[in-house]
Amino acid sequence: MMPLLPRHFCLASFLLLLILQPSTPDLESDKSALSAFRAAVGGRSLLWNLSAPPCSWTGVICDNNQQIIELHFPGMGLSGTLPAGVLANLTTVQTLSLRYNALSGPIPPDIANLTALRNIYLQGNFFSGEIPPSLSSLQNLVRLNLADNKLTGSIPSSLNALSRLKTLYLEQNQINGTIPVLTMKLDQFNVSFNRLTGSIPSSLSGMPKSAFEGTSLCGPPLSSCNDATTGGGSGGGGSKLSGGAIAGIVIGSVFGLLVILLILIFLCRKRKAKKEAKDVEVAAAAKQAGGTAGYSLGKSQSDGNSLVFFGNHKGMFDLEDLLKASAEVLGKGTFGTTYKATVDMGGLTVAVKRLKDLAVPEKEFTEKMKEIGEVEHENLVPLRAYYCNRDEKLLVYDHMPTGSLSALLHGNTATSARTPLNWDTRSSIALGAARAITHLHSRGPVSSHGNIKSSNVLLTKSYEARVSDFGLAQIAIPTTIPSRINGYRAPEVTDAQRVSQKADVYSFGVLLLELLTGKAPANSQLNEEGVDLPRWVQSVVREEWTAEVFDLELLRYQDVEEDMVQLLQLALECTAQHPDKRPSMAVVTARIEEIRSQSATLHHHNADDGSI
Ligand SMILES: *[C@@H]1O[C@H](CO)[C@@H](O)[C@H](O)[C@H]1NC(C)=O
Ligand SMILES: *[C@@H]1O[C@H](CO)[C@@H](O)[C@H](O)[C@H]1NC(C)=O
Ligand SMILES: *[C@@H]1O[C@H](CO)[C@@H](O)[C@H](O)[C@H]1NC(C)=O
Ligand SMILES: *[C@@H]1O[C@H](CO)[C@@H](O)[C@H](O)[C@H]1NC(C)=O
Ligand SMILES: *[C@@H]1O[C@H](CO)[C@@H](O)[C@H](O)[C@H]1NC(C)=O
Repeated sequence: MMPLLPRHFCLASFLLLLILQPSTPDLESDKSALSAFRAAVGGRSLLWNLSAPPCSWTGVICDNNQQIIELHFPGMGLSGTLPAGVLANLTTVQTLSLRYNALSGPIPPDIANLTALRNIYLQGNFFSGEIPPSLSSLQNLVRLNLADNKLTGSIPSSLNALSRLKTLYLEQNQINGTIPVLTMKLDQFNVSFNRLTGSIPSSLSGMPKSAFEGTSLCGPPLSSCNDATTGGGSGGGGSKLSGGAIAGIVIGSVFGLLVILLILIFLCRKRKAKKEAKDVEVAAAAKQAGGTAGYSLGKSQSDGNSLVFFGNHKGMFDLEDLLKASAEVLGKGTFGTTYKATVDMGGLTVAVKRLKDLAVPEKEFTEKMKEIGEVEHENLVPLRAYYCNRDEKLLVYDHMPTGSLSALLHGNTATSARTPLNWDTRSSIALGAARAITHLHSRGPVSSHGNIKSSNVLLTKSYEARVSDFGLAQIAIPTTIPSRINGYRAPEVTDAQRVSQKADVYSFGVLLLELLTGKAPANSQLNEEGVDLPRWVQSVVREEWTAEVFDLELLRYQDVEEDMVQLLQLALECTAQHPDKRPSMAVVTARIEEIRSQSATLHHHNADDGSI
């Protein structure tokens, strides 16, 4: 390994050295390349001490041999054009992250000289021009993210030379033409919101529909290409059809249409007959498509048993009201579907959770309900009533109009978009949820929540946290097969019904990481990095590039970065692999209180940025 070159190293011996050790990394040239890079695009934002070695510079990550292997400059306010010849010298770089800056102009073709590159993250800039065909020489490339730029031209078929490529994100550009047949085995792919036309190559038909949104593409997974739209496709097959073939197609189509019509008529008649016979059943079941659905108990079921109320809600409404109420699906949770029901009298709105299957006998269920109904805490969603007979179990909770933290952070429901949340709101949600869980844990050594995740943290109108679904993990059977992929479950948990307090702490730690990074633990965007949220954060923090992990919305509040780092530290302690290494919820709550009291004293961020 060659040491740093002294200032007055004479040129002749320098050249000699190069000849003798042609493969030795040239730190001095790395340094001059990075200086040129900084001068071109980041004069004011990259505060580097140029007299110190580059490996100590923010965002520059070296391996043990002092070779630069990663460059991370996300959301650093870089702007301007990347000059040609600057990147080419950084030959050892494996990861280049310039995402979410204001870089413009073409992607320099000499990026192709960085033959060690495995990951390129250029999303969220203003890069224009075409995707450089020279990228095809980057044989080691695994992830290429050029999304959210102003790229034009078409997708070069030369990308097929990238046989190791797993991720190709090109969404939100102005790319036109057709998608070439891509032969590599892609795990992640997105070309949404481009000017692409023609049919989707069959090798990509297994991708989700949302990978092709906002384009004029057709074919699976989108609706099939009919003759009219594929006819004009450019650069496609272009083979001419003979007159006979056309006649054949026309006759075939007419015949096909007739057959379809006949089948439809037949089906309609059949359905009508059935409908008359089974009217009640149909009304109860098949409303899903319209977005609303009902839970219908049927006449025979609503006999005898009635709603069991807790607290002073008794008499506000009865089972009959609940069944008559107009219901709307709020979401499908771990243990069943939740509906929003407006009970006629007084326009009272409640959330009704319909449990799928019980894991315990009815008697035990009733006891557990009583226990849950007794729990009261300002940060818990109270259970108001329940209904239980052999076939149906309904739980009635207060309805939280602002929805869940998950919906707010990720905008993952049809009705809600991602809402910008500032540090103050996020840390206060963290504190509220921590207090609620601490309260649950204080009820006894075996009392745990069992299913902590952002979709179970609901919010009031003023964004105070209300934790829901507590205690259900012990009595209900999940509707989906629980898997570690959901991202919140502690590594030691094998039985979902036996969740310890320390496992709750782990899940809460993941929730904290989610609040800080803005990344959903089960999100495919995250798994672009191939690991779960705690391990991803650990790997980034280990590289001493902590700012990389934070949600961009949070990075605007530079004055609280120290607090954010402290909360991150706490989250990592909560997600320790070994349960004994995790702090108790009481300790977690106390530490969040402490962190928040620090930021309250120097709390002065502008409120005019549209965030909450
Ligand atoms: C790249 O390296 C070469 C040789 O080491 C050097 O002459 C050139 O100035 C470098 N380019 C930049 C932009 O640093
Ligand atoms: C810059 O780095 C040099 C060499 O490591 C060091 O002596 C100097 O104090 C540093 N300057 C600043 C402002 O940190
Ligand atoms: C990049 O690679 C090409 C071909 O491999 C070479 O001709 C060119 O000089 C290289 N550019 C730089 C700046 O090293
Ligand atoms: C794509 O757009 C470019 C201009 O950005 C244009 O020159 C080219 O003809 C277009 N190609 C197709 C296939 O529409
Ligand atoms: C593709 O990108 C669009 C726009 O950013 C997004 O809405 C969609 O969810 C993405 N789909 C996939 C499969 O990544």
